[in-house]
Amino acid sequence: MGAAMSPAARHPAQPTAPRGIGARIQYPLAVGPYSHGWFLQRQIAMQLNVNQQSLNVPPDWEDDCLLQVLREALGLTGAKLGCGAGLCGACTVLVNGQPTRSCLMPVRAAVGQSIQTLEGLSGSSALAPVQATWLAAAVPQCGYCQSGQIMATVALLRQHPSPSAEQIDEALAGHLCRCGTQPRIRAAILNMTKGSA
Ligand code: FES
Ligand code: FES
Repeated sequence: MGAAMSPAARHPAQPTAPRGIGARIQYPLAVGPYSHGWFLQRQIAMQLNVNQQSLNVPPDWEDDCLLQVLREALGLTGAKLGCGAGLCGACTVLVNGQPTRSCLMPVRAAVGQSIQTLEGLSGSSALAPVQATWLAAAVPQCGYCQSGQIMATVALLRQHPSPSAEQIDEALAGHLCRCGTQPRIRAAILNMTKGSA
């Protein structure tokens, strides 16, 4: 009989994850959690569909919320960070046409969804109709909440092209404005849509 194998020989040390920049490309391709599929996944940048463009999310941002990625990684600063807790509406963007608090949405959950931000409203024209109405009615004061207000209004008008005052109040109820612009917002929407029923 041959010599018995030592425990160390029977169970060679598992490769350990190297540290530092470039560590990912040194992982073994087929060991435990570092499988080939996992490896490939980590190398392909996460992509978001924002304003009908496919944008890559840098790997360092893949665990952040959608708002942070839009603003800090992709440079789309229309949506604002207010409360960061889903309470103020300043961060509202449209996800598949629905007003969504981007401060609460993990960016991973946004993959494969159609995201629209303030920057995507006007297309090639200077201002979208809602933005032009806002300007004509001098709605904003400090402006901080207005991106969220506008995105929620766009969603409202897609669903109700001629909304009642009650429908406006309901759609914008969760959008705080400490400058008190709500009456001007309501009046601007009603003025914009009168006769469009
Ligand atoms: S910042 Fe998202 S709801 Fe206030
Ligand atoms: S315009 Fe200042 S918070 Fe709304």
